[in-house]
Amino acid sequence: MHFKVRAAAKEDCKEISRMIMELAVYENMADQVKTSHEDLKRDGFSPNPFYECLIAEVPDEHKTKDGYTVVGYALYFYTYSTWKGRSVYMEDLYVMPDFRGKGIGTGLMAKVAQVGVEKQCVRLQLSVLEWNKPSLDFYIAKGAEDLTAKEGWHFLRFHGQTLDTLAKEAPKD
Ligand SMILES: CC(C)(COP(=O)(O)OP(=O)(O)OC[C@H]1O[C@@H](n2cnc3c(N)ncnc32)[C@H](O)[C@@H]1OP(=O)(O)O)[C@@H](O)C(=O)NCCC(=O)NCCS
Repeated sequence: MHFKVRAAAKEDCKEISRMIMELAVYENMADQVKTSHEDLKRDGFSPNPFYECLIAEVPDEHKTKDGYTVVGYALYFYTYSTWKGRSVYMEDLYVMPDFRGKGIGTGLMAKVAQVGVEKQCVRLQLSVLEWNKPSLDFYIAKGAEDLTAKEGWHFLRFHGQTLDTLAKEAPKD
């Protein structure tokens, strides 16, 4: 099936928001989604954007029964490794169920890799839930290393109260 991968525009934020929710439903964590399409607009399309996003689009003749032609996305941002330098982190990769197995996921991820390589990034990193075996297999088949298995990294988070408490412990200027 023909598809196009292009940089997302501000106007795509409603579609991206829809697919963020679809991915969260797939991951059984829909209740965790708090971002609105307005947040996505502000955070991705202001002078110092927090993320970049690619979307996959199919021609009109392949639109879904709900009329969607935007059928996948990859959302990523830049990080820095003190050991290796510039890196890109892919936060989300998603293709709508009816469009899977047609090369769209690979196309999106390859484009993220290309954008990163063009910016001299030496790593593309991502996280995947332990039970999401099909996606884990997909990444491994594409050559990704499983750092949890290989090096034993834990993925940690401060948020809500723990983040506020920590922030309050900051030394005064
Ligand atoms: C992971 C995901 C993005 C892959 O996207 P995709 O468009 O299906 O990927 P591709 O078609 O490029 O490649 C899928 C691979 O699985 C194989 N495959 C075959 N049938 C398939 C099917 N029905 N569904 C998915 N993959 C299939 C393909 O042959 C391909 O292998 P190959 O590259 O060796 O040919 C997509 O399955 C998805 O959105 N999954 C649910 C959300 C998710 O888990 N995202 C990742 C979160 S970390």
